[in-house]
Amino acid sequence: MTRKVCVVTGSSSGIGAATARLYAGSGWNVVVNYSREAAPAEAVAAECRALGAEALVVYADVSVDAQCRELAAEVEEVWGRADVLVNNAGTTRFVPLRDLEGLAAEDFHRIYSVNVVGAFQMTRAFTPLLRKNLGSAVVNISSIASFMGTGSSIAYMASKGALNAMTVGLARALGPDIRVNAIAPGLVETPWMQDGLGPERYAATVEAYRGRAVLDAVVRPEDVADAAWWLGAGAARTTGEVLLVDGGFRITRA
Ligand SMILES: NC(=O)c1ccc[n+]([C@@H]2O[C@H](COP(=O)([O-])OP(=O)(O)OC[C@H]3O[C@@H](n4cnc5c(N)ncnc54)[C@H](OP(=O)(O)O)[C@@H]3O)[C@@H](O)[C@H]2O)c1
Repeated sequence: MTRKVCVVTGSSSGIGAATARLYAGSGWNVVVNYSREAAPAEAVAAECRALGAEALVVYADVSVDAQCRELAAEVEEVWGRADVLVNNAGTTRFVPLRDLEGLAAEDFHRIYSVNVVGAFQMTRAFTPLLRKNLGSAVVNISSIASFMGTGSSIAYMASKGALNAMTVGLARALGPDIRVNAIAPGLVETPWMQDGLGPERYAATVEAYRGRAVLDAVVRPEDVADAAWWLGAGAARTTGEVLLVDGGFRITRA
C-alpha cells in the first residue's frame, strides 16, 4: 500500500522541521519545503529518511501561486497522493507595538502575502489531491498573537487573525471531504524569536513567559508538531477549530 503523504511548508527549521520528522517517524512520506537555502531543508530530509520515510525537498515561495501549483504537481507526479497539508511557512517584521509609524502598508502586504495568501494558495493547489483520500486535512500554523495582541508586530498579529478566520471559511468550503484546523502556538523555541529579538531580549522574554505560563515553560517545536499530528492524522470529527498550544500562558498562573 502507498504510504500517506504530509506536505509541510517552511520545514527546513523550527516547527515545520519537527512536524516533518514526526510524520516521517510515524510511517508517512514527507515534503520538506524551503524558500531560501536548500542545505537546511536537505538536512531535515536526511533526518526523515533515517526515520524510514521517503522525503522530497522542494523549493517554493508560498506567496507565488505558480510555485504552489508546481509543488502540488510534483507531489502528484512522485507519489500520486497527499493526505495532510501543514501551512507552517510564516514571516514577520519585528516592530514595537506602540511604534505605529514603524509599520508601512508594504509590511502588511508582504506579511499577508505569505501568512494568509500563501496558506490560501497552497490549500487551493492541494485541494484536488487531498480530496482523493478519505480523512485528509489541512493544518494552519497561526499564533497566540492573534488572540492577545502580543508578538512581533501588529501586521503579524493581524495576519494570524486573518488566518484563523480563513481556517473557518475553508473548513466550511472544503467539508465534508477535507478537515481544516489551525494551531495557535505561544512562544516557541525556534530561530524565529531568537533571531528576531537577539540573545538578551530573547532570554528576558523567555523568563517573562515562563513567569506567567501555568506550565512554567515555553513551547517546544515538538509540542506544536504533536498537535499538528493529531489535527492532521486524527481528529476525525474536528474542523474549523483553532487550538492554543501555549503552556497555559493565556489563562495565567493562579
Ligand atoms: N516561534 C514562535 O514563537 C512562534 C509562535 C507562534 C507561531 N509561530 C509560527 O510558526 C510558524 C513557523 O515558525 P518557526 O517558529 O518554526 O520559525 P522558523 O524556524 O523561522 O520557520 C519559518 C519558516 O517559514 C519559511 N518561510 C518563510 N517565508 C516563506 C515563503 N515565502 N515560502 C515558503 N516558506 C517560507 C522559512 O523557510 P525559508 O527559511 O526557506 O524561507 C522557515 O522554514 C510560522 O508560521 C510562525 O508564524 C511561531
